[in-house]
Amino acid sequence: MRDLDICETDPARAFLVNFHGTRHVVEAARRTGAAVAHISTDAVFDGKSERPYTESDIANPPTVYGRAKLRAEEVVKTLPSFWVFRVSILFGPGKANLVADAVRTVGEGGEVLAPRDQTANATYTPDAARKIAEVVGSGRCGLYHLANQGSCSRFELVRRAVDLAGLDAGKIRGAASAEMGRPAARLKYAVMEMRALEQAGFTLPRPWPEALAEYVPMILPRP
Ligand SMILES: NC(=O)c1ccc[n+]([C@@H]2O[C@H](COP(=O)([O-])OP(=O)(O)OC[C@H]3O[C@@H](n4cnc5c(N)ncnc54)[C@H](OP(=O)(O)O)[C@@H]3O)[C@@H](O)[C@H]2O)c1
Repeated sequence: MRDLDICETDPARAFLVNFHGTRHVVEAARRTGAAVAHISTDAVFDGKSERPYTESDIANPPTVYGRAKLRAEEVVKTLPSFWVFRVSILFGPGKANLVADAVRTVGEGGEVLAPRDQTANATYTPDAARKIAEVVGSGRCGLYHLANQGSCSRFELVRRAVDLAGLDAGKIRGAASAEMGRPAARLKYAVMEMRALEQAGFTLPRPWPEALAEYVPMILPRP
């Protein structure tokens, strides 16, 4: 359950799904001797840093979603064999995401309001899936930050996507998070350094603009 605002207004449900759900998986894995690969989030950080967060930085989430995901990480880490992959702003085929939503809305003549003041990583799901398979296949357990290289705001990401789609990028309007009146706090800065992947000798996923250029043609309406 990854909607920050629903989590903020319904903490019991957020912890039920995101923490207790994970805890049940961990208990089953402990009984059977299985390893667990868990997907977590940059939302475990406080967003106040002025440099990219590493895996050894302290997590101090200001939101219910972040706190539930951090508790989930902690329970996963009690297993003898585990992987925790922290990802950020997912986009890719097969599921609704902010890139596809923005391209569709602008393609239908609408406008999109996107925050300019939240800087993070973007993660193309096929790239993340390939890297997760590689890391898990290597048997090198641990906590990993995982995203495409480079950072961006949601505004930059969707604007670039709309431009790649050949549509009017002026239809993406930048906004300050505070103007958007959302219940959950948004992190000003959530960029993650992929230090653990580098130190373990893995190559990093390609820069996000390259991944976006692969993805956008897949979501354009067929002529
Ligand atoms: N989306 C992002 O930008 C983003 C950013 C950072 C981290 N993450 C993390 O990446 C992972 C995947 O993200 P996502 O956006 O694909 O998450 P999602 O839409 O919440 O779905 C992830 C999975 O959880 C299941 N699920 C969601 N709500 C549930 C509920 N109330 N009860 C039972 N199962 C439920 C979904 O089942 P169904 O398929 O049946 O709905 C799906 O299999 C999550 O762990 C999320 O915390 C996501």
